[in-house]
Amino acid sequence: MSVVMETVGLEKEYPQGGSVLRVLKGIDLKVVKGEFMAIMGPSGSGKSTLLNMLGALDKPSAGKIIVHGTDLSTLNDNELADLRNKEIGFVFQFFNLIPRFDALKNVELPMAIAGVPSRERRERAGKLLELVGLKERMDHKPAELSGGEQQRVAIARALVNEPSVLLCDEVTGNLDSKTGFEVMELLLSFNKEQGKTFILITHDPNVAQMAQRLVQLQDGIIIGEKQLW
Ligand SMILES: Nc1ncnc2c1ncn2[C@@H]1O[C@H](COP(=O)(O)OP(=O)(O)O)[C@@H](O)[C@H]1O
Ligand SMILES: [Mg+2]
Repeated sequence: MSVVMETVGLEKEYPQGGSVLRVLKGIDLKVVKGEFMAIMGPSGSGKSTLLNMLGALDKPSAGKIIVHGTDLSTLNDNELADLRNKEIGFVFQFFNLIPRFDALKNVELPMAIAGVPSRERRERAGKLLELVGLKERMDHKPAELSGGEQQRVAIARALVNEPSVLLCDEVTGNLDSKTGFEVMELLLSFNKEQGKTFILITHDPNVAQMAQRLVQLQDGIIIGEKQLW
């Protein structure tokens, strides 16, 4: 089975006053193509720090991150930006949609950055919005959508450049439990039907239980893992 992402002895520390705060203390993780992995841990355990480094949004203090066989430390800023735009989809807790854009334009944005012609952008964005159940809401702005609908727009946006991996940070954290469950079902459907690889971080055990593999993070180290299906 092919490894999509791997960390080797990954460490991250932040300066804090005169000393350093060690947030990740040596993480060895392999994510295999097509798996749905959840990383669960209490608040402050380093989950977002880890996910941001997997997504090339931040750099390690020590250790390596390898994406599709490439050590990220060998890439320059342009190459990292390109990787984020084409290979990785991000979904966040607070949706991070552009308020003045309607749903369709929000989903088109990553394609505009990738240089996809406008007609094709419209077509692909429309199709994805249909797939996430928002066919009738394409011309609504974020403020005119519910939290669950906004998260569906964000999921469509994350998928639109056909990334191989989706990184999801507390994506149900701002939703009620029923809506959160529906969003998880939607993510799982993209995993099952399109073989997308997911790395999802959460502090919520009910959400984590829906994943295929559950990795537990505490104080910047992995303390255990379980295969759930
Ligand atoms: N940019 C930063 N500068 C300094 N400290 C940070 C920074 N980002 C995160 N931290 C600290 O690192 C620890 C882990 O944060 P985070 O990865 O966000 O945890 P989690 O997502 O598990 O709640 C926290 O103590 C947090 O305050
Ligand atoms: Mg976090």
